[in-house]
Amino acid sequence: MHPPIDQESPTDALRRAARILRGATRVAVLTGAGISAESGLATFRGAGGLWEGHRVEDVATPRAFRRDPGLVWRFYNLRRAALAQVSPNPGHHALADLERRWGSDAFALVTQNVDGLHQQAGSQNVLEIHGTIRHVRCTGCEAITDRGTEALADLPACEACGQLLRPNVVWFEEALPEAVWKRAEDEVARCDCFLVVGTSAVVYPAAGLIDLARMEGAAVIEVNVVPSQASSRVDVLLLGPSGTVLPELVNALA
Ligand code: OAD
Repeated sequence: MHPPIDQESPTDALRRAARILRGATRVAVLTGAGISAESGLATFRGAGGLWEGHRVEDVATPRAFRRDPGLVWRFYNLRRAALAQVSPNPGHHALADLERRWGSDAFALVTQNVDGLHQQAGSQNVLEIHGTIRHVRCTGCEAITDRGTEALADLPACEACGQLLRPNVVWFEEALPEAVWKRAEDEVARCDCFLVVGTSAVVYPAAGLIDLARMEGAAVIEVNVVPSQASSRVDVLLLGPSGTVLPELVNALA
């Protein structure tokens, strides 16, 4: 059991986290919107968050898309356009460094993010459990195409069959992509150390991975600017922006 957080200095917490991580044979990571905040992308919850400016029910459910696909596409096209303006930050790069250190067979990065910044930073074993907004999926023929950050129409049509396209992301009330989710569960169940970065840990099943890791005996290290729903059940909480804390953690391993 770890000492109460308020009795441990940030430096001691970092040292303890580095010790745990150094001793791990397999590492898994769960990231959320917070890791991309320092790249300039809005998170979902809290002041200025995406869900403050938009109701989830209007832009991120299958029903919303049936009712008003143009509105949903305008929301996602704005987010796609934002991607063209941003790049990975030191937090993304630090996770890519960790993967190089452990090797992709022993390191998996599970992300709830749909922005593709982890891959841009060089991460390879990335499991995008909520999909990616760089890809579109045809509502007719189901073909999935990588459209990058290219500007799309408000009602974009499939080049193959002419039917309406949708962003290839997971909306509320939808199931996660089965094969990707299964791999995520396997990686988390097998890891010795689970890093949880920049997520409020309120959206399931993603947040359930934290319980899975604990149940299977992994140590859990969390990085967040404030305590999250997960903080009471982690081994070390590193409070601070991931763009600073993750590079510090990598340095502390040396
Ligand atoms: P949230 O917006 O819920 O949470 C972002 C978390 O990042 C918060 O806990 C912040 O405190 C933290 N944070 C902000 N800036 C940070 C920084 N610089 N460094 C570290 N942490 C920082 O985003 P998610 O947890 O990703 O799902 O949300 C989970 C899911 O809910 C999303 O994938 C999306 C959303 O609705 C779907 O769209 C299906």
